[in-house]
Amino acid sequence: MTTSLKGKDVLQVEQLASEEIALIMDTAARFQGALQAGDRLMNMAGKVLATLFYEPSTRTRLSFEAAMLRLGGQVISVAEAKTSSSAAKGETLFDTGKMIESYCDVAVIRHPVVGSAQELAEGASIPVINGGDGAGQHPTQALLDLYTIRQEKGRVEGLTITLAGDLKNGRTVHSLSALLANFGVRFYFVAPQALAMPAEITASLRQRSIEIVETTDLARAVAESNVLYMTRVQKERFADPAEYARLKGAYVVDTKLVKSAKPGLTLMHPLPRVDEIQKQVDADPGAAYFRQAANGVPVRMALLALVAGRE
Ligand code: NCD
Repeated sequence: MTTSLKGKDVLQVEQLASEEIALIMDTAARFQGALQAGDRLMNMAGKVLATLFYEPSTRTRLSFEAAMLRLGGQVISVAEAKTSSSAAKGETLFDTGKMIESYCDVAVIRHPVVGSAQELAEGASIPVINGGDGAGQHPTQALLDLYTIRQEKGRVEGLTITLAGDLKNGRTVHSLSALLANFGVRFYFVAPQALAMPAEITASLRQRSIEIVETTDLARAVAESNVLYMTRVQKERFADPAEYARLKGAYVVDTKLVKSAKPGLTLMHPLPRVDEIQKQVDADPGAAYFRQAANGVPVRMALLALVAGRE
């Protein structure tokens, strides 16, 4: 049987088989080529995407909307879903799902509660894409991160990758670590004790024979790594502002750290950065975070076209 994502939800990375990941990567590369050639694509002509964002977003929302428009489709959205949608009146996501299927062909949701995309998907018969559910998962970010690593490094197998920052609350690293586990990588997990990677995640990675070194020493990890994936301390997940203030400056990447790194280090960040990476680092040829953000468009084009069966 040929691999297809038609009609499927994209809720968490564990649901994706190797062939499906490969199909997404190949489709994204094809769309990126078409974008670079200035081709006008009409794959999603006549289709409507709904974006439901109950949490702030710049990149995820704009790149999904850009992706849909670049494929000749159209977009509807609730401006600030939390305050201006019926969620403010107490509507469940399940009911929202029941309703949106008559308004659009695909939906992307971002929501502060873990499992929220799943709940919308249970109500909706159309494909639902998880654009970030609280401290849970962010599968489309992980796919564009994987795409970026392949592009920057030419391979994924055998790489040593450091994930650093808020590994407890950061949904991007939850999804990315599980996705990369398909490719035989080694990990350094660098975080203050209070923000360590959840034990269930490290246990499930180790069960898949993935080698993980957990440390608080960023310089040590970076000296051994091909990729450093830096993350923001997730302010919105802290109940106690004093705890956030104590942890927010835990790691700062500066030019000195980059100089001490293994040569050829690729530096990534899902953005937004607060002060985890100093601006002077942007000039380093390995600083890939803006290229990474740009890759959100072709990767999300691939996802939209694939779930709609219009690739
Ligand atoms: C991330 C997110 O929303 O989880 N942002 C993004 O989608 N690029 C990372 C973050 O907010 O720190």
